[in-house]
Amino acid sequence: MQRIFYNFDLLNDLISSEDIENYRGRIAKAEIALEKGTGVGKEALGWLKFPEKITETEIENIISKAVRFRKKANFLLCIGIGGSFLGAKAGIEFLSNSFDELRKNRVLFSGNNFNSDHMFDLLELLNDKEVVVNVISKSGTNTEPSVSFRIIKEWMEKRYGKEESAKRIIATTDSEKGSLLKLAKIEGYETLTIPQNIGGRYSVLTPVGLFPFAFSGIDIRKIIFGAKEAMDFCSGNKIEENLSSQYAMIRNILFKRKKRIETLAVMQPHLHYLAEWWKQLAGESEGKNLTGIFPSILNYTADLHSLGQWMQEGTRNVFETFVTLKNTSHTIQVPSFLDDIDEFNYLAGKSMEEINNVAYDGTRLAHHDGNVPVSTITLEDRTEETLGQIFYFFQKAIALSGYLFNLNPFDQPGVEAYKNNMYALLLRPSYENEHKKIRIRMKELNIELR
Ligand code: PA5
Repeated sequence: MQRIFYNFDLLNDLISSEDIENYRGRIAKAEIALEKGTGVGKEALGWLKFPEKITETEIENIISKAVRFRKKANFLLCIGIGGSFLGAKAGIEFLSNSFDELRKNRVLFSGNNFNSDHMFDLLELLNDKEVVVNVISKSGTNTEPSVSFRIIKEWMEKRYGKEESAKRIIATTDSEKGSLLKLAKIEGYETLTIPQNIGGRYSVLTPVGLFPFAFSGIDIRKIIFGAKEAMDFCSGNKIEENLSSQYAMIRNILFKRKKRIETLAVMQPHLHYLAEWWKQLAGESEGKNLTGIFPSILNYTADLHSLGQWMQEGTRNVFETFVTLKNTSHTIQVPSFLDDIDEFNYLAGKSMEEINNVAYDGTRLAHHDGNVPVSTITLEDRTEETLGQIFYFFQKAIALSGYLFNLNPFDQPGVEAYKNNMYALLLRPSYENEHKKIRIRMKELNIELR
C-alpha cells in the first residue's frame, strides 16, 4: 500500500505538460543507469535493492542483539556522525513520544561535535543509568566520533570494568577494513556490518539505523516492509509510475528556472529530524561540480514567525516542498470557555490538526501568491511502514536527481578539504609538511590560531 504522495498541482502555471514531456527521456536514462548499475558511482548502489536483499536471519540477528542489549540497559548511546547518525535519529523522532523522558528504551546520540560541555552533560545524565553503546562508523576515520568514543570507552571501562564494558559495546562498521573493525576485534566487541556498497547517507535501512530502531522498540520488519513497498512505486521509466522521479524532475526543472534553494517545510515536530536527514542526503549528494540545489529546512508553524517573512517577501530564488502528515496518532480539541476572554471560542471543538491543516493551506497559498513554487509530500501516518517508504523515496529521488545533474550522488570529495586542514593543524602523523604549509598560509591571511 502506498503511504506517501507527491502533489505539484500548484506548479501548473509554471511547469507545462510540454516541460514534463521534455524530461521523459532524461528520467528514463537516469532510472536505467541506476537500475542497471551503469552510471557514475555504480559501486555504491547496494541501497537500491537492500530492503529486498536483507534476509530474515540478518533481521533476526539485529533484533536479538538489540533485545540482549536492552536487558542490560535502558539507555543506548549511539556514537556517529552524518549518515552514521541522522537516519537513526530521524526514525526515532518520527515514531516515538515527543519527550525523551517518556521513552522506555532511550537512544542518545554523541560523536557529532567537539564540545566538552555537551560531553560533560551527557556523562552527568548517564552517571546513574545503565548504559550500552553502539559506535557507528563505516570508515572508522572520522575525528568527531573517534574522539567521542575514546572518552566514552574510558568512562565505560572505569564504570563497568574492561570485561563488562566490552560486553556493552557494539560496533557497526565495515565488514573488512577500518580501524573501528580492528578495535572491535581486539577488544572483543560484537559487530554489525555496513555493506561495502552502501555509503553513509544511504545506510539508514541497514544495521546503521536498524539496530538503534530495534533497541528503542521499533518494529524493524515493518520499516523494511514499507521500504520494499516503496521500491515498487519509486521505480520504472515512466514518470507517472515512479514517485521519486516526479520529485527529482520537479526539483531539476525549478533549478533550471534559477530556483537555487529548496526548503523542506515540515508541518509537524515529529518530522524535524527527517528533514535534517534529508538535508544531509541532498546536500552531500548534489552539492558538487559547482552546482546543486542548496537544501534548507523549515519547521512550521514555528518558523512562520521567523523565516516566514523571508519566504513571503525575500529573494525569489527558493522553492518550497511541504511535508504534511495526513493522520496524527491522537486528536486533541480546543476547549470552549464560557467567558471567552481571549476570543478564541470560534475555534472550540476543532482539533489541533484541523487548525494545522488550515495553516498549511493558508501558507502554501500565500507563498504561491508570493511567487514561491510550492509542492507537497504527504505522509499517511506515523507508522514504521510509512517511515520505510519515505526513507526509500528520498534516497531514490536524490540519486536520480544527482544523475539529472550529471554528477556522482554517492561521493563527497568536498568534505575532505576541512578534514585535511584539521589533520594538518592537529599534526596528525604524516601531516608534518602540511602543518608547516598551513601555518604559513594562515599567517598570510592574518588568521590567528586560537
Ligand atoms: O554520507 C556519507 O558517506 C557521510 O556523511 C558519512 O556518513 C559520514 O561522514 C560518517 O562516516 P563514517 O560512518 O565513515 O564515520
